Amino acid sequence: MSSVSAKVLEIKDLQVRFDTEDGVVKAVEDVNLDLFSGEMLGVVGETGCGKSVTLQSVLRLLPTPPTRITRGQILFHGENLLDVSEERMNEIRGGKIAMIFQEPMTSLNPVFTIGEQMRDVIEQHRRVGKRKANSIAIRALIEVGLEDAEVVLSKYPHELSGGQRQRVMIAMALSCQPEILIADEPTTALDVSIQAQILAIIKHLRQTHNMSVLLVTHNLGVVAQTCDRVAVMYAGYVVEKGEKFGVLKAPLHPYTRGLLESIPRSRKVRELRSIPGSVPNLIDPPEGCRFHPRCSFATEVCKREVPILEEAKPGHFVACHHWRRLGY
Ligand SMILES: Nc1ncnc2c1ncn2[C@@H]1O[C@H](COP(=O)(O)OP(=O)(O)O)[C@@H](O)[C@H]1O
Ligand SMILES: [Mg+2]
Repeated sequence: MSSVSAKVLEIKDLQVRFDTEDGVVKAVEDVNLDLFSGEMLGVVGETGCGKSVTLQSVLRLLPTPPTRITRGQILFHGENLLDVSEERMNEIRGGKIAMIFQEPMTSLNPVFTIGEQMRDVIEQHRRVGKRKANSIAIRALIEVGLEDAEVVLSKYPHELSGGQRQRVMIAMALSCQPEILIADEPTTALDVSIQAQILAIIKHLRQTHNMSVLLVTHNLGVVAQTCDRVAVMYAGYVVEKGEKFGVLKAPLHPYTRGLLESIPRSRKVRELRSIPGSVPNLIDPPEGCRFHPRCSFATEVCKREVPILEEAKPGHFVACHHWRRLGY
């Protein structure tokens, strides 16, 4: 599917740095990701590998300083979002590209009711009056399973449960008819049963509204169930990406393989567990392949040269000096 449909978003050679007292954090290195119309792309990797920084760069949500986007382009239908005016960015943010986070409380304003906040956002992005905005809000809340929409609109954020707040965030995103939904670990803070409901809603909405979804998750089970393609990140790099079953069933990168081997097969909820060693410090990361200190296949070349992300099989990319030799 993805090969024939249009690219809606292209992250090209993205490099992001943070200036800190301890030094420069090399958080994101030459990240290349494409998102096609109507598809769901999963982004996985251990904490601190650059998932949130990459996705927040798309909407220019990171403060400067300390953030510096030192290289790359973020093309939304060919328009480089790193170059557009703040005014244009405000139209895109929330309107064309919506984002939901792990903890919805951070993006809801505690002093306004849900209704006030939803109507504001809808009025701004859909250019409609209050009454129309209200009916759009109600429809969106019902669509995400909040049947008691009128009651929800009258509540303040703290009067709702975590699951309800996440539904409100999704409804708010949806009510602006975005082309792209960026969801950064939207279910990590929720109970397992609520997690499944929220994911089902996202999956359903993506089909009925033909949205493209960029989903960050810790859970490879979620990738298997909901995504079309997956990108695996390690220490700021995309180390492998491709169609989900290609990557999950025949991983080409030792890191991806490690992640999959560390999954307890019997458990239904398959969280990423750590593999031996620890994530490198990104102020002074290892030379060459950043994974080499943890990799049992590493040789001299891995310590010297950064492996490029190459197309090993059609649509399946890997950044490893030894993928051919390892004979997976
Ligand atoms: N404001 C900041 N200042 C300094 N370092 C940061 C900042 N935000 C993120 N980082 C660093 O950037 C790297 C990537 O972080 P992040 O994208 O949040 O990881 P994750 O994959 O868990 O979402 C981490 O090493 C993190 O410590
Ligand atoms: Mg994150």
